[in-house]
Amino acid sequence: MQLSIFRFNPERDDKPYVQDYEIELRATEVMLLDVLLRIKAQDNTLTFRKSCREGVCGSDAMNINGRNGLACITPLRWLKEPVMLRPLPSFPVIRDLVVDMTRFFSQYHSIKPYLINAEPLPEKERLQSPEERDKLNGLYECIMCGCCTSQCPSSWWNPDKFVGPAGLLQADRFIADSRDRATQERLDDLNDVYRLFRCRTIMNCTEVCPKGLAPSRAIESIRLAMLKNSL
Ligand code: SF4
Ligand code: SF4
Ligand code: FES
Repeated sequence: MQLSIFRFNPERDDKPYVQDYEIELRATEVMLLDVLLRIKAQDNTLTFRKSCREGVCGSDAMNINGRNGLACITPLRWLKEPVMLRPLPSFPVIRDLVVDMTRFFSQYHSIKPYLINAEPLPEKERLQSPEERDKLNGLYECIMCGCCTSQCPSSWWNPDKFVGPAGLLQADRFIADSRDRATQERLDDLNDVYRLFRCRTIMNCTEVCPKGLAPSRAIESIRLAMLKNSL
């Protein structure tokens, strides 16, 4: 298999370059991460993140043949050669395929990603009915990999002001939670030309999410909640 991989080590390189690799596939190598691990065994200067190998930790998000995805759940048979691997677009590069996610996580923290409820604690736990719990499906599964935000044009142009699809999906997760008591505060915070309304419904986010989630639907649901609240 032929791969072309973006390389950049700011301590050594004046500018980025692309390095070609050729690997004879083994029968046990099924996913893109399997091949990356073998390249790493031969060339330990290649740098990328990974952890769970199961599409759960979100750390091996990268741009694969022009489309963001997770290397560990991208089957090799899906890929046209030479496979071009780049770091997540629009995120600052630290080294090779590793990007700086500071701004991404600061947008996430800005939506207060935790339950807000000052009512006295029940003896055991705050209960939900099965119907209330069902409202979190399609939202709680987000692994914060960054694939959606990195491929969102509105995030490229206003990364400091637009929360971005991942953060907005998480905002909807707490707005939809029957145990949360800060719905109005959350909606007021997002009711801004940049924070939420910079989304232009381009749908790249939903198109690339490797977990099959739909941030654009979550954004629409926040807009509808705002409308309902204003009537
Ligand atoms: S919505 Fe999907 S693409 Fe975006 S951060 Fe969550 S899991 Fe990743
Ligand atoms: S739908 Fe909105 S959040 Fe999603 S990619 Fe388009 S502009 Fe970005
Ligand atoms: S290694 Fe954890 S999502 Fe791929």
